[in-house]
Amino acid sequence: MDTSIDPIAALKSDHEAVRAVLNNLGGYLKKINSVLSDGLRNNLINQLHEITGFIDKDLEIHFRKEEEALFPVLGNYIGLETGPIHAMLIEHKQSRELSAEFKLKINGYPQSIDFKPIIDIGNSFLRLLSGHIDKEENILFNMADIQLSKDEKHSIMVKMLDIK
Ligand SMILES: [Fe+2]
Ligand SMILES: [Fe+2]
Repeated sequence: MDTSIDPIAALKSDHEAVRAVLNNLGGYLKKINSVLSDGLRNNLINQLHEITGFIDKDLEIHFRKEEEALFPVLGNYIGLETGPIHAMLIEHKQSRELSAEFKLKINGYPQSIDFKPIIDIGNSFLRLLSGHIDKEENILFNMADIQLSKDEKHSIMVKMLDIK
């Protein structure tokens, strides 16, 4: 990522990666109850572990880019305590809570082979996050595009590049 890239375009490109992972997650959650062999079930659980790895690392970096670089500057125009940024921060918190719970359930395998909580929590996470990124793209990012100056966009991008 270089600093000439628009920060909103960079965040949208993160969203594409998140959407691909959510798509895989949905597929694994559908399959988990119908796999018959232990081997296939272990594979599926390993794939879910990979997804929680992505959530802990890549999604967390994405959230921090929004929270530490975009939101403080955009907040000067549209407020932080109420309105869309406030709503997005609540959803980040809910997403972190759900993913922590999801990880706990997956780590319970194979001592616990009750997959219902994994499926339920996984689907709640999936619904929350796909709604979240749709809202950011349809509402918040459009506001950012309109409100932010070229210089502000540049400094947001520079800050985002520091978040790893
Ligand atoms: Fe977000
Ligand atoms: Fe986002």
